[in-house]
Amino acid sequence: MCSRDRPIRPARPPSGGRGAHAGTTVADYTRPQMMNRQKIDYDTGTPPAATTTGSGHEMTPAELFALQPGLARLMPEIGVRFWKCYYAARAANWALASWQMREMKKLFRLARVTRPRYVEDIDAYLSDVLGPLTAALDQQDFDSFDRNYRAAITSANDYHDKWKKGYIVWKLPDEPPPDLDLTPHPSAG
Ligand code: HEM
Repeated sequence: MCSRDRPIRPARPPSGGRGAHAGTTVADYTRPQMMNRQKIDYDTGTPPAATTTGSGHEMTPAELFALQPGLARLMPEIGVRFWKCYYAARAANWALASWQMREMKKLFRLARVTRPRYVEDIDAYLSDVLGPLTAALDQQDFDSFDRNYRAAITSANDYHDKWKKGYIVWKLPDEPPPDLDLTPHPSAG
């Protein structure tokens, strides 16, 4: 059976099905007494029907907004992805380097949503700076990657300056990340 034809797992098992949800109806999920028992279904990514904490407190939009990560929370993660991307490329582990780059871009796209005032700069950085860097990764051209990577650091720090955070100067750590084996994996292609 081709993966396209495989039946898609329902977000919630139908009422009367087997397993933990057996006999549960949609109405059950909306009963107040059930709300604090709702959990994200990590298999399907289905969020609970209501934004209720474990103690039964229903969160307001303002509270939900306050939970969204801003740049001060996302940037350190971006820095770690960028660090790993460099040393993976230097080890010719192109699959890993490309993956780190993709994850880093996702964090920038998340920042666009949570902090819209940076949209223009983030978009410019994604296309003008990370675009050529990604092309070098795709071509597995380390010299071009290295050149573009250095330019990307300078550009990032220019943006910090622009946003009056000139005291934030990111630098590539001298050492490769200690938590990853950077050796190219034979099955990675
Ligand atoms: C690969 C590129 C980048 C890296 C590695 C990087 C790294 C960092 C780091 C490590 C911080 C400090 C976070 C902390 O500990 O508080 C930071 C903060 C910040 N970055 Fe970046 N950055 C990059 C690109 C950018 C770009 C393109 C912008 C443009 C909008 C930007 C805007 C900011 C701002 C505004 C802050 C301050 C956040 C705050 O405190 O509200 N960065 N960055």
